[in-house]
Amino acid sequence: MKTLIIYNTASGATKEYADWIGDALKANVVAEKDVDSSMISTYQTLIFGSCVQGGKLKIASWVTSHWKQVKDKKIIVYSVSGADPTETSVMRKYFDESFSKEMQKHMTMFSLHGRISFKNFPMIVRLIVKFVRKVSKNPDVQKFTTEFDDVKKEYIAPIISAAKK
Ligand SMILES: Cc1cc2nc3c(=O)[nH]c(=O)nc-3n(C[C@H](O)[C@H](O)[C@H](O)COP(=O)(O)O)c2cc1C
Repeated sequence: MKTLIIYNTASGATKEYADWIGDALKANVVAEKDVDSSMISTYQTLIFGSCVQGGKLKIASWVTSHWKQVKDKKIIVYSVSGADPTETSVMRKYFDESFSKEMQKHMTMFSLHGRISFKNFPMIVRLIVKFVRKVSKNPDVQKFTTEFDDVKKEYIAPIISAAKK
C-alpha cells in the first residue's frame, strides 16, 4: 500500500512524528503547504498529522477542502497537542471541532503529546508568557505556558500498526 504522510506543524513536533512514521513505513512525507493535489491519486493510504492550535487541528481546513479527493482512501489522522492525550474528552473535542461526524467515520484517529517550548520565540514574547503565567490563575493558561517536551518515537507504534492493517 503506497502511503503519503501530510503534516502541518508550527514548532516541529508534528514533523518529527511524521518523519519517524515515514521511516517506519517507508512512506513519503510532505508538508501541507507543499502538497500538489495531483500527487494524491497515486496513494492508497493517507496519514494526516497536525498540531493543535486554539482547540482545532490546523490541518482541518486542507482536509475539508480536499475531502472529495481523499475520502475513499484509507485515512489516518494524528493530532499533536499540548494537552495530555490521556484527557480523552479534550481530544474528542479537538477532533469534533475539526471534522464533521461523517468525515470522522472514514478516519482512524490518534492523539499524540507534543511540546511547549518558547526558546525560539522573540525575547518580548517570552517575557509576556512569563508575566501571564505569573498573574493568571486560569489552569489552562498555567498548562499552556509551562514548558515541557514529551515527543517520543514510541508513541507512533499504534499508528504504524493501523497503517499496516
Ligand atoms: C498559539 C498556540 C495555540 C495552542 N493551542 C493549543 C490548544 O488549544 N490545545 C492544546 O492542547 N495545545 C495547544 N497548543 C500547544 C501545541 O499543540 C503544542 O505545542 C504542539 O506540540 C504543537 O505541535 P507542533 O510542534 O507540531 O507545532 C498551542 C500552541 C500554540 C503555539
